[in-house]
Amino acid sequence: MPTPVEFHDRMLSLGLARVSEAAAIASADLIGRGDEKAADQAAVNAMREQLNLLDIAGVVVIGEGERDEAPMLFIGEEVGTGNGPGVDIALDPLEGTTLTAKDMPNALTVIAMGPRGSMLHAPDVYMDKLAIGPGFDTDVVTLDMSPVERVNALAKAKGCKPSDITVCILERPRHEDMIAQVRSTGAAIRLITDGDVAGVMHCAESETTGIDMYMGSGGAPEGVLAAAALKCMGGQMYGRLTFRNDDERGRAAKAGITDLDRIYSRDEMVTQDVIFAATGVTGGTLLPGIRREPGWLTTETLLMRSKTGSVRRVQYRNPTQ
Ligand code: FBP
Repeated sequence: MPTPVEFHDRMLSLGLARVSEAAAIASADLIGRGDEKAADQAAVNAMREQLNLLDIAGVVVIGEGERDEAPMLFIGEEVGTGNGPGVDIALDPLEGTTLTAKDMPNALTVIAMGPRGSMLHAPDVYMDKLAIGPGFDTDVVTLDMSPVERVNALAKAKGCKPSDITVCILERPRHEDMIAQVRSTGAAIRLITDGDVAGVMHCAESETTGIDMYMGSGGAPEGVLAAAALKCMGGQMYGRLTFRNDDERGRAAKAGITDLDRIYSRDEMVTQDVIFAATGVTGGTLLPGIRREPGWLTTETLLMRSKTGSVRRVQYRNPTQ
């Protein structure tokens, strides 16, 4: 017999799917309209409204920013009805605002929920990230290895040639050297313009997505969300915060982080079991985007629980007014 706590957890996961669906539906009219801010705002409003209907005593630990920067879903905001378990929430109402505004692939709405204290309170700085899918020995690739060493080590572990490996990297000037190093091994690179939560998640389903490894720096909050996803899907991930100035170091101090050079493994970023939901906004290899038909909008949501390893794909057909 499942315990009442488990039952509650399951029901909450369905509630979480509704939250990410609502954010996606709200941004649907703004796909390809060239207005990143409007798309983000629509997703934020809808996610917050839906989240506040859940019977939880939630606190946003990864959100839209500090209280003075973000009026809604800011870090520390209490969400939910207050009648229910105390939980931490990590969210990105629209991961890939530019992807949405330009109608480019892999924009998602993302939310994760876990017990209090289960997720790293990552400040809004960059994080060096490295991820691979499930089925490999621990530390087969590490952040301390060079990009060349990582490709060679993964190819050896997979029993293939380096040229059979595909690495996903954000296309940024800061990654030029990394890209050159990976290319020197013969490996392929899927360059993405945005959306590294999806980039990391692609590693967990490499047969479908064709991506074996993700590397490079991106937002630290997105790093924790990606770690939550991989905790459910399987796979390894490492993250190290990087700081460009004292203001960023101050943000880390405020978040209670004292060891600025620490490398966090997936389970150090997300220390307990979590529920994770992501809804496709624009279509990609992991999730289809929102489909429009006259009178209807259809979304697909990936809903996962790390406790059981369960993965649901929830299709939601919703009449438009
Ligand atoms: P937004 O959805 O907030 O625009 O973030 C998209 C994103 O590409 C993230 O996926 C990534 O972690 C971060 O921005 C990278 O930051 P930068 O654009 O500064 O390199």
